[in-house]
Amino acid sequence: MDIKYNLKPVSERRTQAFIPEGNLGFGSLRTDHMFMMDYSEGEWRDPRIVPYGPFEMAPGAMSLHYGQSIFEGAKAFMHEDGEIYTFRLDKNAERMNRSADIVCIPNLPEEMQLAAINALIDVDRLWFPQQDGACLYIRPFIFATEDRLSVSPSQKYTFCVIMSPSGAYYATGVNNAIRLLISKKFHRAVAGGTGASKAAGNYAASLRAGKAAAEYGAAQVLYLDASNTQIEEVGAMNHFHVLKDGTVIIPSFTDTILQSITSKSILELGHLLGCEVRQETVMLDKFIADIESGEIIEAGGFGTAAVVSAVGSYIFEDGRIVTVGDGKVGPFTQRIYKLYTDLQKGNSPAPEGWVK
Ligand code: COI
Repeated sequence: MDIKYNLKPVSERRTQAFIPEGNLGFGSLRTDHMFMMDYSEGEWRDPRIVPYGPFEMAPGAMSLHYGQSIFEGAKAFMHEDGEIYTFRLDKNAERMNRSADIVCIPNLPEEMQLAAINALIDVDRLWFPQQDGACLYIRPFIFATEDRLSVSPSQKYTFCVIMSPSGAYYATGVNNAIRLLISKKFHRAVAGGTGASKAAGNYAASLRAGKAAAEYGAAQVLYLDASNTQIEEVGAMNHFHVLKDGTVIIPSFTDTILQSITSKSILELGHLLGCEVRQETVMLDKFIADIESGEIIEAGGFGTAAVVSAVGSYIFEDGRIVTVGDGKVGPFTQRIYKLYTDLQKGNSPAPEGWVK
């Protein structure tokens, strides 16, 4: 791919390593540049790196009206050798095309996605935040740009990558266990819908449920399937729980669950964690009974942004509260978080091909 570079004048670019003061938080800062590429007449064309700034887009652009818009979230880390390494970026590129298929967006070859992101990291490498646990959060996205108001797949798209220097989501590790609202009213996805994609609309649809959770003093919603019998996801993360023998269970991936790259990775890391990690259908009634009997000792969520989030309790819409273990962050959750972040930061060797 022949990328054109239209960079900011050197005098307006970062010229020194970025050493932030205080934790940066997640997703607010931007680097100097972004990658863009357009799709029309059946081809991806005009790959370019340009200064970060507003787009020009027709008010009739179809993504604004009919929501043909998908995104990914990935992270790059600086290792001890001072180089920046992406973590399982090929899995993000693969998932971008799975999302694209679900909302009828043309695929973008994985090698083009990887080349685009690596070129952007190279241009803005001085933006890497040099702080323990910090990363460059990478946000690739594709949106429909054709100026047409009839409902059918757009014939034109833009692929864009922006980056956000971000601090560790949890500055001192996972030290806070959240409460989840078990909602039988709000559903994130239904079979045959878009739940398995990172379609922008899935996140819009989650906002109302998030508001309802807050009214119950909960941080997020535990989403159930449409029959209100099976556990699906936690806000924007996959759900997991830990049995008293240390087995980690993640709900089986269906077309109503997003295939979290963190979950997929943890599934492959059982040998390093020293426990079994498996997927199965998780029935709500049994899950609650197993928490109450002490068979389930920990629970939480897996996702790119926070990596691991611990769940201390669940609240039903009738106000009943069920506490997991002692309601605090448990040792398995802490161990998973430490192992995963150590692999990302290069403190422990990751499986072949994960870090590039
Ligand atoms: C993730 O953590 O995997 C997410 O998708 C969160 C993002 C929407 C901020």
